[in-house]
Amino acid sequence: MKKQLLILLILLCPFLLVARQNVSIIPQPVSLEVHSGSFIIDENTSIQFNATQDELKEAADFFAAAVRTISAYDLPYQLKKAKTIELKLEEIESIGKEGYLLDVTPQNIRLRANDKAGIIYGMQSLLQLLPVIRTNAVLEIPCLSVTDYPRFQWRGMHLDVSRHFFGPEVVKEYIDLMASYKLNTFHWHLVDDQGWRIEIKKYPKLTDVGAWRVDQNHLEWSDRPQAKPGEEPTYGGYYTQEQIKEIIDYAAERNITIVPEIEMPGHVASAIASYPELSCTQKTQLPLTGGDYSNMSSNYCAGNEEVYHFLEDVLSEVIDLFPSTYIHIGGDEVNKGPWKECERCQARMKEEKLKDENELQSYFITRMEKFIISKGRKMIGWDEILEGGLAPEATVMSWRGEAGGIEAAKMKHDVVMTPGNPCYFDHYQAGPEGEPVAIGGFNTLKKVYAYEPIPEELTAEEAHFALGAQANVWTEYITTAEHLEYMVLPRMVALAEVVWTPKENKDWDSFNVRLQNQFRAYEQKGLHYCPGNYTVNIKPKSENGKLKVELSTEILNGEVYYTLDGSEPTLQSEKYTTPIEINSSVVLKASTVLYGKVKGYKPAEQNFVMHQAIGRAVEYTNPVSPYYQADGPNTLTDGVRGTEAVGKFWHGFSDKSLIATIDLGETKTIQSIALGCLQKYRDWIFLPESVTFEVSTDGKSFAEIESLKNPVDINAPVALHDFKTEFAAQKVRYIRVTAKNNVCPPGHNGAGKTAWIFADEIVVN
Ligand code: ACM
Ligand code: ZN
Repeated sequence: MKKQLLILLILLCPFLLVARQNVSIIPQPVSLEVHSGSFIIDENTSIQFNATQDELKEAADFFAAAVRTISAYDLPYQLKKAKTIELKLEEIESIGKEGYLLDVTPQNIRLRANDKAGIIYGMQSLLQLLPVIRTNAVLEIPCLSVTDYPRFQWRGMHLDVSRHFFGPEVVKEYIDLMASYKLNTFHWHLVDDQGWRIEIKKYPKLTDVGAWRVDQNHLEWSDRPQAKPGEEPTYGGYYTQEQIKEIIDYAAERNITIVPEIEMPGHVASAIASYPELSCTQKTQLPLTGGDYSNMSSNYCAGNEEVYHFLEDVLSEVIDLFPSTYIHIGGDEVNKGPWKECERCQARMKEEKLKDENELQSYFITRMEKFIISKGRKMIGWDEILEGGLAPEATVMSWRGEAGGIEAAKMKHDVVMTPGNPCYFDHYQAGPEGEPVAIGGFNTLKKVYAYEPIPEELTAEEAHFALGAQANVWTEYITTAEHLEYMVLPRMVALAEVVWTPKENKDWDSFNVRLQNQFRAYEQKGLHYCPGNYTVNIKPKSENGKLKVELSTEILNGEVYYTLDGSEPTLQSEKYTTPIEINSSVVLKASTVLYGKVKGYKPAEQNFVMHQAIGRAVEYTNPVSPYYQADGPNTLTDGVRGTEAVGKFWHGFSDKSLIATIDLGETKTIQSIALGCLQKYRDWIFLPESVTFEVSTDGKSFAEIESLKNPVDINAPVALHDFKTEFAAQKVRYIRVTAKNNVCPPGHNGAGKTAWIFADEIVVN
């Protein structure tokens, strides 16, 4: 090789590397090749397309407008210029609906697709390569070839505008964000207990009354008392039908379909406040201010014919407004108690030969589906619509985990996957410490990124019924546009890659690198976002009777430092490299370190205890709740103590006592037994009323050692307490612990109802 050429190559190499790194598109395309050189947008650039195709003219308008906002260039159409951006609709089988082919050379950009959606998405990819704020520089796009198309057809984001109202400008901003990441379905949650947000001409009170509540934004959601007569309902708002039409058009220009949700038959206290005759009791009530549901109705009466007429009228206006194939009818969390007490509901059940209230709900939903189908549309609802029998053609949105989606897909119904974990973006993402107060949970960016919308339980054939996935943003705790941005950025970006990019192209590290460009863009645009989850993930793993702990951070280039003596980690602490073996009772604290700085609000922390029952099987008389399985059957004897985080390491029992029996494997001398429990007032989790300890040598006859009453204040918002009995050393082989559920106390939302027990670790010494 000639020396000059070698030198040239060496010189070029870093350049090529840089060029490659700079091409960062999210979601990652199906295929992307970067070439040398670039296309410059300047005054010698025009857009070319077949002028008879209105769709291309609209797409050109979209791109030209975007270019005008960041530069001085006003791209002309069809003018012979030196450099062209060519748009073309043609049949290209390989890329299907919404797909596009993009070729950028120094002379021209060629963008081809089967449909306008594909052209718009090609443009979105181009826009990600351009500055996001106005610049005087020329606009440079690296030469590249892209072949791209989506993995799923339903790429959704939901927004609850009932719990807090967000005006049209915020909704458009949300739509813009979705569009830039090629999300195509906006699920607009327009109706819920705390506000009716869509103008219905035939029923003006829905918005005159139902859209306004007494302003208690200074109080936390569940602390808000109900409105009193005479208090001014000043908080709220709604969208006029004109505003809605404009938003629908705005979304359509960006290939986003808006699926309106009109909740029924529950979650409609706002409608009942407007028209009390629609409820079972027909009593008047004021619009709800927050989470206090005592002595009010939140259901329609399922036995009243007027209700069905009302809903058909409402849906008719909704269907006239929204062109979407799907109409969402809610269907979640119906408290069927009022139907049990209602003469009309009971009479309807008799008439229709419905055996219980679940079937009454199914009757209700099936009737509405018939109506929706008669209007040429399809019905979608939350997974509770499976209860009592699924309507014949319903699509199911699976939110209580994946079970509903799996069940429906096996019944050959279409499903959209949106399980609470990790698709609820109202949950914490980096805290909870240091984050704005959220409803709970912990759905980090990495968890969202790792989500696989097709459950393993489905066969390849059944998997076709999974239309895609969606994230939901409930807004009890989200009151401003800034906070809303923080909750969705950047989790929405991870979701976009989940639903668009081929599974085999997904790569967390690459995503994390590409995301940094987005962060810069948010900063330039003044958007609020979560910079990352600094909380170290502590993952205990039992291996051959040994307890090992893995530590990891989601932060790009982050390192983990930890201590085992309860002190705060510093740069002088141990740096994590391989799983840590735990041999004694310790408190592990770990922090993320980035570029020599300890990051985050508080170190992640985990208690480990060594005791005589470690690794021993626990047998439950009453099953543990499927929702709170923690690490599996040995959670109570794994040495890993539950923390204040509800979902983690706790076994939950909702209605029947915890009765746990442990076989120590051999007779051992012990002198104390303790059961650790959690109280979380807001979540209906209370310390047990009492805990009884028994021991046995043969596993048949048990002798009681002690029964302890709960000593902690039942009104304490949060408490961790060990119920512990100590006794003279005794030889035993079997231990039985019985914890009795408490009752939610007076003044609590669930007053008089059975409380949850959350238990973790039975410590035997
Ligand atoms: C829901 O989160 N209630 C659908
Ligand atoms: Zn009724």
